[in-house]
Amino acid sequence: MLQISSLIQSELAQIRGNFTGKDIVSLEQFAVDDIRLLFSVAREMKRVAVNNMPSARLAGYLVSLLFFEPSSRTFGSFCAATKRLGGQTLDIQNPEAVTSVYKGETFEDTIQVFEAYSDVIVLRHQLAGMARRAAEVASIPVINAGDGNNEHPTQTLLDLFTLHERFGRLDHLKGLLVGDLLNSRTLHSLMRGLSLFKGNTVYLLSPQLLRLPADEIVSLRARGLRIVELASEEDIPRDCAFWYWTRVQKERFASSADYQAVARQSFVATPELLARYASKDMILMDPLPRVGTIDPAVDSDERAVYLRSQIRNGLYTRMALLALVLGL
Ligand code: NCD
Repeated sequence: MLQISSLIQSELAQIRGNFTGKDIVSLEQFAVDDIRLLFSVAREMKRVAVNNMPSARLAGYLVSLLFFEPSSRTFGSFCAATKRLGGQTLDIQNPEAVTSVYKGETFEDTIQVFEAYSDVIVLRHQLAGMARRAAEVASIPVINAGDGNNEHPTQTLLDLFTLHERFGRLDHLKGLLVGDLLNSRTLHSLMRGLSLFKGNTVYLLSPQLLRLPADEIVSLRARGLRIVELASEEDIPRDCAFWYWTRVQKERFASSADYQAVARQSFVATPELLARYASKDMILMDPLPRVGTIDPAVDSDERAVYLRSQIRNGLYTRMALLALVLGL
């Protein structure tokens, strides 16, 4: 995959208690207090959304949703978040087909055009590093809604919010992370997020070809995250606070034959697996879509939060983030 990080000169701005005007590109920009601040606004936003309280917080503001890759939840929740706060969206899904990108316009020009029309750009792109590139080009905030196999920071904010709501803390947690550790941007950001808090341990379970790269393991361990790679399902410890399942990222494979070969080895969360290894207090998370990775028979288990709190928290945390980056 093309990586453009070598072209990048500027450092990403740290949040340091002030989101106003900042790009949100990576978990690298966050400290524990920034996450706490976002949570307190997200709790306020939850009250607004749950009680259908009319809000004009984003009235007069326009958010460009520029999605170069398909999306249900991230696109839908950013759209809903803007509208629940009285703002408006410019919805561009599949710009390669419906904008001048089709005619050969450069990425940089496209970003500058949408910068001229709106107050925030929410960008999803198939290439790692493009959110950072857009952030360099635009002077309005750019929010990374997933860049290739690199990061998905807003997913992590909602995942951490979900864990915090359930356990009342984000330190000293044990989590099982399953699936495509090589390509899953949700996992990459989540591990960075968990590494901000003390005493967290992650157990990794993936097909051999989809293991977390060794340099990533070294860098996460250096930040204090304890990482244990598991060889098989039989090694799953029974005291994990959460399981986080992911699908094999089909779109990152060169051919469908390559994908099929790996997908055959992927792990499936079933009622039997939960009965055997999951504690009664844990939660089962998945950023979705699940593609054969969670048996629908698990859905009725109240520990399964992927279609419940995890999804709804995406709305509240994105409402909070939009208000914060706009300084409203
Ligand atoms: C994730 C993504 O796009 O990375 N989806 C999402 O935003 N909820 C996970 C995935 O596609 O597997």
